[in-house]
Amino acid sequence: MIDLRSDTVTRPTPAMRHIMANAPVGDDVLGDDPTVKRLEAVAAERAGKEAAIFTPSGSMANLIAITLLTRKGDEVLQEVGSHPFNYEAAGASAVAGVQIRPLQGERGILAVDTVGAAIRPPDDHFAPATLLTLEDTSNRGGGTVYPLERIDALAALAHERGLRVHLDGARVFNAVVASGIPLDRRARDADTVSFCFSKGLGAPVGSVLCGDRDAMVTARRIRKMLGGGMRQSGILAAAALHALEHHVDRLADDHARAQRLAEGLNALGLATDPCDTNLLYAHVPDAPAVAAALRDHDVHCLAVAPGTLRLVTHLDVDDAGIAATLVAFEAVLG
Ligand SMILES: Cc1ncc(COP(=O)(O)O)c(C=O)c1O
Repeated sequence: MIDLRSDTVTRPTPAMRHIMANAPVGDDVLGDDPTVKRLEAVAAERAGKEAAIFTPSGSMANLIAITLLTRKGDEVLQEVGSHPFNYEAAGASAVAGVQIRPLQGERGILAVDTVGAAIRPPDDHFAPATLLTLEDTSNRGGGTVYPLERIDALAALAHERGLRVHLDGARVFNAVVASGIPLDRRARDADTVSFCFSKGLGAPVGSVLCGDRDAMVTARRIRKMLGGGMRQSGILAAAALHALEHHVDRLADDHARAQRLAEGLNALGLATDPCDTNLLYAHVPDAPAVAAALRDHDVHCLAVAPGTLRLVTHLDVDDAGIAATLVAFEAVLG
């Protein structure tokens, strides 16, 4: 089976499983897990922040950041395709008590003027905007890498107007590898940054949220409140450490394969969106029907809109998988 539905479908490699099985662990809620502590230190250093907390998911890392950086009744500015607005079960409003204001970007990337115009002056009628979140890479945008100068300009604007900035870096290492710009630079002006180990990095579970030391003390309490305190989570942190060490540079292979897939589909007459990293959106007349037909050829992808398929390359898809996918498309499209 060739599973292109998401980069979350990867299974731990034998080397990763070995590291997990042998990880020193303790009760992390009691502060005793040395592997989690090591992961948090490594993640904070990579992000250029003082501290980090390990979370069960990217959604929880985002929710903790939003709770941490806002008060109930505040407004959070986000690109319309952003993950919390679309796919986090309204956690920001239900739990953090904020209103998300979706803003139209281009392929997930916000323009400075759009954000500037959306920040309203103080007025009792308005929810005060106190947080801007950016998604790097943008999932619904098509794996788009945020241009660095845009991150810098948006963060400067936000800070000048009294907003804080959270960088949802679920796939930020794809952006790091595609741009050649390290994480601590990409996240330099963000108050908090989160990233996931369970996507292109190939670990089974886990994300981190990074920020100032004091902020992470509060973040840890919010994580507990949400039920995200984990016990011998060093088993998972070991997988995350292994992923950081061994699975970052190879993301370039996923990007090259996504490019090859795009070119192959274009050669078959299909239109595809521009593809910066590992997320490819392809356009077909009837996406659910094409996805179902591809399944009969053992190729799995998601119909994310009536005329759009999403195909994601990752650790468990090799060159032969890309070739077989193109053969399946050719068979299905006639
Ligand atoms: C951009 C982005 N942020 C956050 C998340 C949430 O991650 P998780 O599935 O671990 O909750 C995802 C998941 O796909 C994502 O694409």
